[in-house]
Amino acid sequence: MRLARPVVFGNWKMNGLRAEGLALAGTLAERAVRLTGTLGVFPPFTLIHAVAQRVKGSGILVGGQDCHEKASGAYTGCVAAPMLADAGATAVILGHSERRHGLGETDALVRAKLVAARAAGLLVVLCIGETEAEYLTGARSARLRAQLDGSLPEGIGPEGLVVAYEPVWAIGTGRTPTAEEIRATHGEIRELLARRIVGGEEVPLLYGGSVKPDNAAEIMALADVDGVLVGGASLDARSFWTIYQAGGGA
Ligand code: 13P
Repeated sequence: MRLARPVVFGNWKMNGLRAEGLALAGTLAERAVRLTGTLGVFPPFTLIHAVAQRVKGSGILVGGQDCHEKASGAYTGCVAAPMLADAGATAVILGHSERRHGLGETDALVRAKLVAARAAGLLVVLCIGETEAEYLTGARSARLRAQLDGSLPEGIGPEGLVVAYEPVWAIGTGRTPTAEEIRATHGEIRELLARRIVGGEEVPLLYGGSVKPDNAAEIMALADVDGVLVGGASLDARSFWTIYQAGGGA
């Protein structure tokens, strides 16, 4: 199924107790009368079920921020993809830089998780992005190619896959690449996906990293940017909705 544009996803990260999360989800559900684009929230595991119940019928998609690569077993503290689906999630973020760099996740691990998530029927939001050192030394393209090569399983189709380009140095810093850099990078990613996956040019491409209400319109107007993955600004219903509208969503 083709996702309607814009695709605007909010990664709540490790934020939100029940009251805040439900209030945020409730406000978004009230605004989402007839969604013309794709709007989704990715709360912490503890809130997935409650948030999914709260937004039921609104068309807002709910996802997890990670999953384990196995479907069940002796993995204390981990959450499996079928558990996310059982809680009401229909999507999952994989390979976020806070897991790759903060928790040492490798491309091979992300690939295994991706296989598990697809087997559970979840839409996968695969995150890739270069570090500041890679950006400054011109190693960005090579890094992104390596991450895509390493994280995408052989023979995967374009269905149920979204790729988010999130430069590590732009996350939570208030800094972003220039519009021209984002456009060029998304064009490269589109080409890499088209070469790697049959129908890969159809995979929605999101930009993430310091997206705010005041830069969202410019970013989402760029060629090959199908939407955005928002962190901090997705914790405020008004900001998040403004970003969605800035991409043409109603
Ligand atoms: P910020 O929007 O807070 O920079 O976070 C981006 C991000 O990591 C989304 O996954």
